[in-house]
Amino acid sequence: MNLERRLRTQWTEAAQDWVGQDQVLRTGLLDSWMLDELGDVRGKRVLDIGCGEGRFSRLLAGLGAEVTGVDLTEPLIERARGMAVGGDRYVVGDAESLAGIEDESFDLAVSYIVLVDVLDYRAAVEAAYRILKPGGRFVVCNVHPMRSAVPYGWINQGNRKLFYAVDNYWNEGPREFPWLGRNFVNMHRTLSSYVNVFVASGFALEGMQEPTPSEEQLVEDPALDDEFRAPNFVVYMLRKPEL
Ligand SMILES: C[S@@+](CC[C@H](N)C(=O)[O-])C[C@H]1O[C@@H](n2cnc3c(N)ncnc32)[C@H](O)[C@@H]1O
Repeated sequence: MNLERRLRTQWTEAAQDWVGQDQVLRTGLLDSWMLDELGDVRGKRVLDIGCGEGRFSRLLAGLGAEVTGVDLTEPLIERARGMAVGGDRYVVGDAESLAGIEDESFDLAVSYIVLVDVLDYRAAVEAAYRILKPGGRFVVCNVHPMRSAVPYGWINQGNRKLFYAVDNYWNEGPREFPWLGRNFVNMHRTLSSYVNVFVASGFALEGMQEPTPSEEQLVEDPALDDEFRAPNFVVYMLRKPEL
């Protein structure tokens, strides 16, 4: 199967197992960083691009946003529709085009660990730019490029994690790894490639975060201590300039 087809079908195959996954890195670490960066979402029109089964969309709707979740994977969208909380709606669609979504119609766009799954990430960034109102923001959380270079790259000695291996960093492209009982593919690109694509698409880069746990999060889940050892995620804060 070619790479594009594989990226477009692997989530349908994994949907059932993904829904049952423990989302501890999201709920215990990343959500608070994302919510901080998104700010007050009350009354805002938010597009959650690659919303999956809608967990984060529901969270934003619960905070008063008017959320549209879009995802390529039909079983995940069906599940999201079944769990809608009010103020959230879900459509099947491709992040690379966001076809059917009007130009300049959203205040905020969110991409929560999705760009590693997308083949034409330039097209996806340009589509997000298109649907945002002038002055609108795009908050992107992604696997850190230092991780996506070598997925599951911990080098262990017995039970002890010695260090995280980074290799072939400038060799952009697919990385295959075992996950959810099957072989999964993520796309690796360098940090500078992402930043250059954001800027070339017209976005202003207003900041970046490399999330680490707070004291409270560590008390909740001491295993998150590993997040201080090697970067795992990155959050980019982008703005479409005012006219
Ligand atoms: C890691 S999951 C993240 C889901 C959700 N954002 C979350 O954090 O729970 C990646 C999601 O991207 C979706 N996806 C992959 N390629 C896509 C594309 N081209 N267009 C829209 N969604 C896509 C998958 O179906 C999957 O739901």
